[in-house]
Amino acid sequence: MFLRERATQAEYFDSPGRTLEELRSHYAELNQLNRLTGSDLPFRKWLPGLAGPVACPSLRILDVGAGDGFLARRLTAWAAARGWSWEFTTLDHCPQTARLATAGRHVIGSATRLPFDDGSFDVVTAMSMTHHLDGPGEVVAHFREAARVARLGFLACDLHRNAALWAGLWAGLFWVSPAFRQDALLSVRRGWRVGEWQELARLAGLDGARTWKFHGTRVVLSWSKTG
Ligand SMILES: C[S@@+](CC[C@H](N)C(=O)[O-])C[C@H]1O[C@@H](n2cnc3c(N)ncnc32)[C@H](O)[C@@H]1O
Repeated sequence: MFLRERATQAEYFDSPGRTLEELRSHYAELNQLNRLTGSDLPFRKWLPGLAGPVACPSLRILDVGAGDGFLARRLTAWAAARGWSWEFTTLDHCPQTARLATAGRHVIGSATRLPFDDGSFDVVTAMSMTHHLDGPGEVVAHFREAARVARLGFLACDLHRNAALWAGLWAGLFWVSPAFRQDALLSVRRGWRVGEWQELARLAGLDGARTWKFHGTRVVLSWSKTG
């Protein structure tokens, strides 16, 4: 059945040799889609609760698979409007993002092997990144690493693999470049489902992790170190 199995075909923009200009326009299209779909909403909704009222006004956050830093920019401004100071470190494995990222400190590194000591950040986030990983083993490593470097918790959100989302993007994404459209549709086919994330979180040792579907299009994972 369509989408029952997760696709493993690589996305075009993950292939080596993309020029800086290609990546710049790819992230510009992604940022536009992020703004239109309110992709940072789950983080605004659940990050303050995960951090707790004492820590929330001043947080050190690591955003994994950050691309050009969209989430960090949005959340920094959103928190500032509430009088909070959220300081981001962004991490991506694509070296060219060092030239594109514009929010806080940017580090080149892998989600599956984070170059930080245990508990280096209050909270770790990951948005629209996990579907890029090759398979369950990489996701388990990513979840385990996020939990290791987080002092308080980990919040991740990604595309949910389902036919309605795929069809919605197929019908609605007429204003983007052909390469972006192809990657977006493939992203849904590479996406994870709620039960899959729950099992991978268990395998990663994230006791008490909760996973759920958001607006029918996203899978969310929230894990608190303190239970
Ligand atoms: C779809 S983009 C999302 C970017 C950003 N989080 C957003 O939502 O706007 C996925 C990003 O994850 C990065 N990525 C993929 N695999 C990674 C890995 N193993 N470690 C770190 N970053 C990775 C890619 O380079 C890309 O920038």
